[in-house]
Amino acid sequence: KKASIGVTGLAVMGRNLARNLARHGHTVALHNRSEARTRALVDRFGDEGEFIPAYSAQEFVDALERPRQVVIMVKAGAPTDAVIEEFAPLLEPGDVIVDAGNAHFADTRRREASLRERGLHFVGTGVSGGEEGALHGPSIMPGGSPESYASLGPLFEDISAKVDGEACCTHVGADGAGHFVKMVHNGIEYADMQLIAESFDLLRGAGGYSPAEIASVFRTWNTGRLESYLIEITSEVLAHVDPGSGKPFVDVVEDAAEQKGTGRWTVQIGLDLGVPISGIAEAVFARSLSGSTSLRSAARGLGGPSRSPLSGAALDRFADDVEQALYASKVVAYAQGFNQIQAGATEYGWDIDLGRVAAIWRGGCIIRAKFLNDITSAYAAEPALPTLLTSGGFRKAVEDAQDSWRSVISTAVSLGIPTPGFSTALAYYDGLRADRLPAALVQGQRDFFGAHTYRRVDMAGSFHTAWAADGRPESPA
Ligand code: 6PG
Repeated sequence: KKASIGVTGLAVMGRNLARNLARHGHTVALHNRSEARTRALVDRFGDEGEFIPAYSAQEFVDALERPRQVVIMVKAGAPTDAVIEEFAPLLEPGDVIVDAGNAHFADTRRREASLRERGLHFVGTGVSGGEEGALHGPSIMPGGSPESYASLGPLFEDISAKVDGEACCTHVGADGAGHFVKMVHNGIEYADMQLIAESFDLLRGAGGYSPAEIASVFRTWNTGRLESYLIEITSEVLAHVDPGSGKPFVDVVEDAAEQKGTGRWTVQIGLDLGVPISGIAEAVFARSLSGSTSLRSAARGLGGPSRSPLSGAALDRFADDVEQALYASKVVAYAQGFNQIQAGATEYGWDIDLGRVAAIWRGGCIIRAKFLNDITSAYAAEPALPTLLTSGGFRKAVEDAQDSWRSVISTAVSLGIPTPGFSTALAYYDGLRADRLPAALVQGQRDFFGAHTYRRVDMAGSFHTAWAADGRPESPA
């Protein structure tokens, strides 16, 4: 019997994907650079399903039925190229190579184009949900050709998470679309985590709550519109007491957030596309600031406001106000992320159904949340929605939240508690809804120092003012 799919790269993510496939009754060929991992998988988990271990690339390829489907799960970058080059020469036209790692979508586009010339399908696939997701049902975001999805789709839908009976997997779009969407997923993940962290900081610093009390606030929020995996795990992390010291776990962890780089990619591409994803950018910068340890120790002790934390009615309302601010800021972060996907689709010619993207993020992935149902509904009602902020339900919720949102940020500012995520989200909201922006002045400045010209509200054409002479506008020829 031959295998319907093979996995090469059997570190924990690859191993768990292979086990998930086998547990669903698919015969899985296994391969790893070092044989030990392959043997270990079969020894420990061989009874979970049908595995065909292979100890050379040729043996692996021979174990697969056609069209062959080879899933690569190795480190992004050069290791991925090396594995592709190891297998591509052994494959035949119509076979499919899947990169399930966190590759940059530009690499995926390049690899797809070059393998297409060799008659092979290359599918860059986003997989979210960490180790547990890979084993029990991730959210899967495959790009690549529709033909490749015809054979691969049923397998991936089978092993993905399910919500309301629907698979959290869809063909996202051609070539790099799947990895692009996974990249934006991670950017949103960063923004969501930052906003939750700011909520914690405010409840503690302004509200005087203990980590254990904040854990229970989050537990309550998790029964409402903020219900999500990230809120749920936050309450668990905050409730955790360090066994050694007896202190809240969150107080014994170094406050320098690390990153593997996918959030940074999201921001870099946001800049290239000219999409203001300020919530994601601030989240990345907040991690960078936290990790600037020598800069921070040099700056420690710089003056700040002296004000006592909240009390009385303001304190009584505070947790609810923070919930409103978190919700509104989260809507902004998602609105920005979905606009980035829209812009990427336009730039690269992908046909991406934004409502479907929200739907496959409802389960399996790190940002899974009830909230994503509302995003799917918003795009179903209005497929060409310019921003989530103008869709009926979100518009009303954010308008209703805005008093609390503004008051929480004012409190943060007056107490000197940094809330880059909340603040940039509100600035974006106010910027979008403004009748006039001071960009008119920026245009004037540009024209003054560099004759960069400007357009007028009352006449067509571009204009330049003779600033040095009499200041009269003249139209450049
Ligand atoms: C996922 C996650 C995952 C990501 C890690 C860590 O969807 O399962 O996004 O792909 O790599 O969560 O990311 P950072 O190290 O950059 O925080």
